[in-house]
Amino acid sequence: MTMTSRILGIVFGLSALFAAAPISAQSNQKSPQPWMNPALSADERADLVLKEMTLDEKISLLHGTGMEGLSPMSPLSIHSNGGAGYVVGVRRLGIPDIQISDAAYGVRSSGENGRYSTALPANIAGAASWDPEAAYAYGGLIGRELRAQGYNMTLGGGVNIARELRNGRNFEYMGEDPILAGTMVGQLMKGVQAEHVIGDIKHYAVNDQESGRNAVNVHIDKRSMRETDLLAFEIGIRDAQPSAVMCSYNRVNGDFACENQYLLNDLLKKDWHFPGFVLSDWQGAHSTEKASKAGLDHEEPGEIFFGPEMKKAVESGKVSQAELNDHVHRILRSMFASGVVDDPPRRGVPDVLGGLAISQKIAESSIVLLKNDSAILPLDASKLRSIAVIGAHSDIGMISGGGSAQVDPMGGNAIMPPGKGQTHWQDEVWFPTSPLKSIRAKAPSTNVQYDSGADSAAAAALAKSADVAIVFAYTWESEGMDLDTLSLPHHQDDLIAAVAAANPHTIVVLETGCAVTMPWADRVSGIFEAWYAGSRGAQALANLMFGDVNPSAKLPVTFPKSDADLPHAIIVHPPPRSMSKDGDHEPWRAIAKGLPSFDTTYDEGLKVGYKYYDAEGKQPLFPFGYGLSYTTFAYSDLVFGSTNAKNGFAVTFKLSNSGTRPGAEVTEVYAGLPAGAGEPPKRLVGWSKIKLAPGESKEVTVPIDPLYISVFDVGKNAWQVLPGSYAISVGSSSRDLPLHGNIVLK
Ligand code: BGC
Repeated sequence: MTMTSRILGIVFGLSALFAAAPISAQSNQKSPQPWMNPALSADERADLVLKEMTLDEKISLLHGTGMEGLSPMSPLSIHSNGGAGYVVGVRRLGIPDIQISDAAYGVRSSGENGRYSTALPANIAGAASWDPEAAYAYGGLIGRELRAQGYNMTLGGGVNIARELRNGRNFEYMGEDPILAGTMVGQLMKGVQAEHVIGDIKHYAVNDQESGRNAVNVHIDKRSMRETDLLAFEIGIRDAQPSAVMCSYNRVNGDFACENQYLLNDLLKKDWHFPGFVLSDWQGAHSTEKASKAGLDHEEPGEIFFGPEMKKAVESGKVSQAELNDHVHRILRSMFASGVVDDPPRRGVPDVLGGLAISQKIAESSIVLLKNDSAILPLDASKLRSIAVIGAHSDIGMISGGGSAQVDPMGGNAIMPPGKGQTHWQDEVWFPTSPLKSIRAKAPSTNVQYDSGADSAAAAALAKSADVAIVFAYTWESEGMDLDTLSLPHHQDDLIAAVAAANPHTIVVLETGCAVTMPWADRVSGIFEAWYAGSRGAQALANLMFGDVNPSAKLPVTFPKSDADLPHAIIVHPPPRSMSKDGDHEPWRAIAKGLPSFDTTYDEGLKVGYKYYDAEGKQPLFPFGYGLSYTTFAYSDLVFGSTNAKNGFAVTFKLSNSGTRPGAEVTEVYAGLPAGAGEPPKRLVGWSKIKLAPGESKEVTVPIDPLYISVFDVGKNAWQVLPGSYAISVGSSSRDLPLHGNIVLK
């Protein structure tokens, strides 16, 4: 907020300020207000409050209080906690304000607010752990840090499917498979909400590209939508019961998502029985009556449509009292259900060390080992005289994902002069977690030298003189832009090729938000995909590199061999392609509002990610579900239990650790649906991450949820398990499935 807007607030808004001064902790002492009785249900409590509310109080819950540059600021916004949104509560009735912060992989805007937040590994990394308990811990940390900063609502929970690998926000999402993504986001959101924070899942729906996100009209057939993007939401919402769902900027089959009757009322509220509230993405609301009727409950960040215009519409009968009350009821019941009324946030000093430990542990279980020729890894420090560490500012830090997900690093952007605490939209932000230092700490007697990689010849010369060369490479991704290509930028492919040519013992560490191509993959000995690894990325990476921790992560997206293997040659941009005078140098302009509507058609339909590569017979570079360990696992003895279509079935098999180290294996179960189902060759239907000591075996049972083997019947508007034979395969990746069996469902 600028000083001018603060002063305006003070001059023009004093009476309003007084009436609605911020509401902090409400005491739980005996209250004459019957809705303060926690023994009543959230719905009963909401109804009791609703009866007491004036029209103005109701309207005030239906919108935020503005945001500089996006929506006019209300004088009341001076009570904002500094997050992306602030909603004025109803003080006289004990209904607290809603203080909203972005918190995708940690709490946003700490620099601006003079606070501290832990950065977790990016959300896609969380998905790469394939560990629902890790996702829950991820959410719990975010919930605690939100509360310590005085927030009671999160904007995390991104679960758009990685249908388009060049989408600049894939790092904020959970990969390409709806069952994995939905399960992981559900656990994450459960973890946040367990801390008594209003949770949300976003961006509903099919917001699978950033380019022209405010103008794009996405065309996709209903069955494909239900079985891909919407299934991830369906599972996440079923599992976490989040208080809120954020509708997205784009149009879906004609209507904006935030005024889309099918998405909001018909599906979310009616078919899925979602009891919470729908809030618009920031300036994603486009109307008053149409949006209200379609099921939008709350506008952010301001009150262009759901403030005075809504009041007029109610007074003139264009929006009915019942409709208004339903919006308000949903917001109130979510406040009671999430616990923010009974247990409001208390500011405090976060458990910084505890948070860092969680972040590191999740990084250790989410960094994927993609290649390990001749067992070059783990490195044995006692045998290495010299190591060359090259590129990607690896002397100083590791990159993070940008946009509204951005978490501010401790001490500011690591590549800037010290003290630059704030980050700015579309800055590349580096965390002060230095791979060079972590490697030196693991190998104190080894000569570890650094080269920036700016000059490939110099880097290659250093690599040549070393026993092992470790090259770091990155792709920065952010909200507000997509990538033109999956190739590494800044000539990093050339750098890696030059280093690999100089030293056969080359290991590449990738810091990327999603898949990248690797034309040099055959020429290096080791590859790690570290994603955006968070506040303790370097320590986690060094533990994996030197074998203190055994890698156990698997890819939640397919890595194709080249851009030419993607389902779409390009991402369709708004016309004209470049919004800036000087070419494409300001990609964020492509998300500007007011661009003419344009169409994109997701005609690959059901064939998202590995399903596309399976169906098209294309060989990926690294398949979905793939990741190596320092030990080996053997699969045997597949059997099926309790087979019936209604209750699903169970898949049981034996897993043995056939190597010499303790390790964890993500065991994956895929199903090929009956012939004639019109489905891609197979889909993930379950998994389990199992820890085993060397030589140990375990019987593993993976229950298969009937929803996960269903197809969506558009005519009946229902999920159906088709009768017939299901080809079940089990193994360690979507392309390495040693166990096969058929199961017939009637
Ligand atoms: C993003 C949302 C975010 C909101 C508030 C929008 O631009 O799409 O994900 O929560 O801003 O910062």
